[in-house]
Amino acid sequence: MPNLFSPYTLKGVTLRNRIGMSPMTMYRSKDGKMDDFHMMYLGARAAGGFGLIYPEQIAISPEGRTTPHCAGLYEDAQMEGHARVTGMIKNMGSVAAIQLGHTGRNGSEVKPWVANMLGRQLSPEHPEGWQVVGPSNVPYGFDKRPYPVHELSKDEIKALYRKYAETARRAYETGYEWLEMHFAHGYLGASFYSPLANKRTDEYGGSLENRARFLLEAIDAVREVWPEHLPLTARLGADDFNPDGAKFEESIEVVRWMKDHGLDMIDLSMGGNTDNMEAAWFGEPASWVDRGAVMKQAVGLPVTVSWNLGVPQNADRAIREEKIDLVLLGRPALANPHWPVWAARELGHADPFSLVPEDWSWWLSNFRGHDASIGWPEVAPQKQAELIASDD
Ligand SMILES: Cc1cc2nc3c(=O)[nH]c(=O)nc-3n(C[C@H](O)[C@H](O)[C@H](O)COP(=O)(O)O)c2cc1C
Repeated sequence: MPNLFSPYTLKGVTLRNRIGMSPMTMYRSKDGKMDDFHMMYLGARAAGGFGLIYPEQIAISPEGRTTPHCAGLYEDAQMEGHARVTGMIKNMGSVAAIQLGHTGRNGSEVKPWVANMLGRQLSPEHPEGWQVVGPSNVPYGFDKRPYPVHELSKDEIKALYRKYAETARRAYETGYEWLEMHFAHGYLGASFYSPLANKRTDEYGGSLENRARFLLEAIDAVREVWPEHLPLTARLGADDFNPDGAKFEESIEVVRWMKDHGLDMIDLSMGGNTDNMEAAWFGEPASWVDRGAVMKQAVGLPVTVSWNLGVPQNADRAIREEKIDLVLLGRPALANPHWPVWAARELGHADPFSLVPEDWSWWLSNFRGHDASIGWPEVAPQKQAELIASDD
């Protein structure tokens, strides 16, 4: 039976454990580049024991960024920064993953903490803003993002596939070994998939097959250049939690098609195509795990999920019960770069410091002294009892 600390192999890549850092946009790039900030931030999590590290959604074009401060890999000039980051992640014993994305109608935004909200948009005329695009001319909400959306033509859609492929090639050349397509959270892939955003009447809209077409063709474009021995995954907005939006039951069928198109794993998350969501259960501990298990069973494809898995017992149980294959952590990884070591202590791992690079591990095994003297609090899992997901 695997546990959180068991190695995991997908295609030709083996992770040292089942703990991945989920992609998180940092809004700290200049000209879409990675720099010393990203080295520090990502290097620290790799040294902290994470088995897989995603930086953030990496744009395939300048207009595919969330804000003017977001990272991309749409130009060769951006490759050097990415290569430094992947080199550091690898050096610390982890695997570097890239999440390729295009923000679609949710681009041209202001940093959330500057706007004090998610999604405040710059107009296309603003010196730093741009014309956002989508499957249809349907803005997301009308208060936050009031500007018209340009409906992509079929030629423009085909041009985007070329951008996906070019960016995937750069990703390989800069040392990434794991690639995820971002089709969730209201961005371009999610908006093609969702009837809330996609009102097209051509072969890219309407039926489930048509709404999935953009996703499948984008996967095909990437699969063609991304080496067969490296994992290709997708984060799917599997449910809009809205009666008129994407539905989980339909997503099972779509993931079957994705598998047929060469996908190696699915990462489940929300559609994010509307603020009008009827269910808030995704705020609950381990909220996507059971759906992950349903998907894994139905499609026979490895599954990963994020959302509220920061309590080690919940994360470990999801792996032990083989409901999912890999745990992704977002906010817990922000809060604690050494989350894997902390979790190992909480779960009674025989040697938690074996998770850090071997030189530190040696010092901490041989010259540690009392745990409190190196700044680790008492292990107190019982304090978290109320946060541990129940059996039902
Ligand atoms: C600051 C921040 C930025 C995020 N950026 C992205 C992103 O670029 N791509 C993505 O798919 N999810 C993004 N997310 C969502 C996380 O990857 C993750 O799915 C979510 O936070 C739930 O996991 P958690 O409960 O462990 O935080 C972001 C989350 C945070 C907190």
